[in-house]
Amino acid sequence: MLTAVRQHTDNQPELALVLGSGLGALADEVDDAVAIPTSVLPGYPQSTVEGHAGKLVFGTLEGRKVLFIQGRVHLYEGHSPRALGVPVRLAHALGARHLILTNAAGGLNPDWSPGTLMLITDHINMAMTSPLAGPVEEGEVRFPDMSSAYDSEWMENAKNLAVRRNLTVQQGVYLWTAGPSYETPAEINFFRRIGADAVGMSTVPEAIQAAALGIKVLGISTITNLAAGLHGTSLNHDEVLEVGSEVREHLAAWVRAIVAVPLPAV
Ligand code: HPA
Repeated sequence: MLTAVRQHTDNQPELALVLGSGLGALADEVDDAVAIPTSVLPGYPQSTVEGHAGKLVFGTLEGRKVLFIQGRVHLYEGHSPRALGVPVRLAHALGARHLILTNAAGGLNPDWSPGTLMLITDHINMAMTSPLAGPVEEGEVRFPDMSSAYDSEWMENAKNLAVRRNLTVQQGVYLWTAGPSYETPAEINFFRRIGADAVGMSTVPEAIQAAALGIKVLGISTITNLAAGLHGTSLNHDEVLEVGSEVREHLAAWVRAIVAVPLPAV
């Protein structure tokens, strides 16, 4: 897989960004872009969901070498838990030691309107599986510590940059479900009681994989809808994509600012 990437680019990204549903266009911001369809990479699991282009985009953003991963994969696509860690393993093999994870999520706080941005302070793994299940790869830890899975210094810096831009940003706990069905109101009620602020079908396996490799993580959720049972209407993926694209500009400007300042030391 690494050799196949190297046939297209010798870019050694410092930072990788995984783009969630409707947020893929952030990669359009990159200079000197080299886009590689993940279909040409042997062993890379393929994206099957609308809103995930199945591409790796290498380039420069704010003078920093970056890799945009538009090839996120999910458990509900039928991939093995282990496959969910492949994009992060590849980013690490290419040199990235910092990872920004973005996603679209349902909000569990009834006061948060669609379009709210949330820094992820911690997560809850309700899919009850892990990309680390299976043999330990070289350079990985068997039992990674998850007590600071999302880097607090980086989060603080990101929060300050948001404040400077007059951007309101919330902070909270992201909960991972296997999907693909949205949650029932009873599940949402349960998730609120156990401390979740946002719910979605991604991000957590990537954060676990990053922890095993010693990669620093910053997580950003776009709350695209209130979670099931917290509002009158039903949920659908089009709404998720639509709200994602509405906040894209704010999010893109904020991410640029985050990328422009020094990254926390590894
Ligand atoms: N639930 C799960 N995943 C999601 C949601 C939701 O309400 N919104 C966007 N992704």
